[in-house]
Amino acid sequence: MDCHSTTPVDPRVLEVMLPYFTERFGNAASRSHAFGWEAEDAVEGARGEVAALIGARAKDIVFTSGATESDNLAVKGVLEARGPGAHVVTQRTEHKAVLDACKHLERAGFAVTYLPVDARGIVDPDDVERAITDRTALISVMHVNNEVGAIQPIAEIARVAKARGVPLHTDAAQSAVIGLDVEAAGVDLVSLSAHKLYGPKGVGALWVRRRSPRVALVAQMDGGGHERGRRSGTLNVPGIVGFGEAARLAREARAADAAHARALRDALRTRLEGALDGVHLNGPEPDDRHPGNLNVSFDGVDAEALMLALRDVVAVSSGAACTSASVEPSYVLRAMGIDDRRAHRSIRFGVGRFNTRDEVERVARAVVDQVARLRAVAHR
Ligand SMILES: Cc1ncc(COP(=O)(O)O)c(C=O)c1O
Repeated sequence: MDCHSTTPVDPRVLEVMLPYFTERFGNAASRSHAFGWEAEDAVEGARGEVAALIGARAKDIVFTSGATESDNLAVKGVLEARGPGAHVVTQRTEHKAVLDACKHLERAGFAVTYLPVDARGIVDPDDVERAITDRTALISVMHVNNEVGAIQPIAEIARVAKARGVPLHTDAAQSAVIGLDVEAAGVDLVSLSAHKLYGPKGVGALWVRRRSPRVALVAQMDGGGHERGRRSGTLNVPGIVGFGEAARLAREARAADAAHARALRDALRTRLEGALDGVHLNGPEPDDRHPGNLNVSFDGVDAEALMLALRDVVAVSSGAACTSASVEPSYVLRAMGIDDRRAHRSIRFGVGRFNTRDEVERVARAVVDQVARLRAVAHR
C-alpha cells in the first residue's frame, strides 16, 4: 500500500512491452530499415496515448527517463532559455526533483521564490500573483502532492500566470486517477511518470506547449537531436511502449480506479478511526485529496517503530525521510505547520488498482494491534 512510491506493472502493459525487447528490438532513430520503422511506429503510437491522457497533441510530448528528468528539463530548461537573472516561483511541498533543480539554479545565479502552503498543503493563488516580477520566467506548482494527496488549484494559478504572461509548469506524476487536461487547466508544461500509473520504471514525459504561446526550452541532454532536439539519446522503446499502454489503460479505467481506491482508502480510515483513539489525518479532507491517499499520525507511536512492526504485513512509508544516518521529519508535513513530533508519528498509505478489500481488512487489523501494543509498551 505504497502506491505513491511506485505501482506494479499491469500484466496487460508487460504483455505489449515484451516483443520490443526481442524480435522488435529496432532503434526508433534508424531510418534505413524496417526494424527502425517498426520501433518508430510503436513509439509514435505510445506518444499519442500519453498525449491523450492529458488532452495534448502528440507532437508536444518529449519522452524522458521519468518525472525527475522532466521536472529538471522544465525548470532548468525554461530558466536557461530566459537567461541570467531569470526568476522562478514554486512552493515548499514540491517533489525534490523540482526543489533541488531550483536550488541548482540559485547556485547558478537565478532567483527562486518558495511559496508557503496552508495547513492542508495548498498554495494561495494570490501569493503566486504577488510573487511574480518582470523577471519571472516560470511558475512551477505540482498538481497532486505525493505525501498528503493535496490537489493544488492549478486552473486558478494558470489564470494568474496567463494574465502576467508567465508559463506554468505542473508536476503531474501523481495525477493519473484524478485526471489533468492541459487545456482545461491552462498549463504550459506537464511532467509525467510511467511507474506511477502501472507502467515501467525509468520512463516518463514532459509535455511542452508549442503554440500560443510557444514555450522556449534549453535541452539538458545534448546528443543526436532526438525528440526534436529537446532530449537526445536513443529512446527506451519497450519502456515507451509500456508507458503508452499504461496511459491508455489509465484513461479508460480512470473512474473505476478512482472509485476503487476511494472505497478502500475510506474503509481503511473508518476501521482505524473506529478502533483507535488519537488518529489524526494529515492534509486535506478525504474528498479533497488523491482518492488513494491516507496520511495519518497515531498519538504516542513512532512511525519507524510501527513500520518495523508491520514490515511482514504491509509496505507503507513514513512522514520522514532517511538521509544516511539521520531521520528527518518530512519537509512537506513541516511546511503544513505539523510539528516534528507529529511528523515522526505519520504514516502514508497509498492504495491502488491492485489492492483488495481483504488486504485492507488484514492491514487494518495489524495496524490496530501494533498501535495498541506500542502504546502499551510506552506506558510500561
Ligand atoms: C510528485 C512526484 N514528482 C516526481 C517524482 C519522480 O518521478 P520519477 O520516479 O519518475 O523520477 C515522483 C515520484 O517519486 C513524484 O511523486
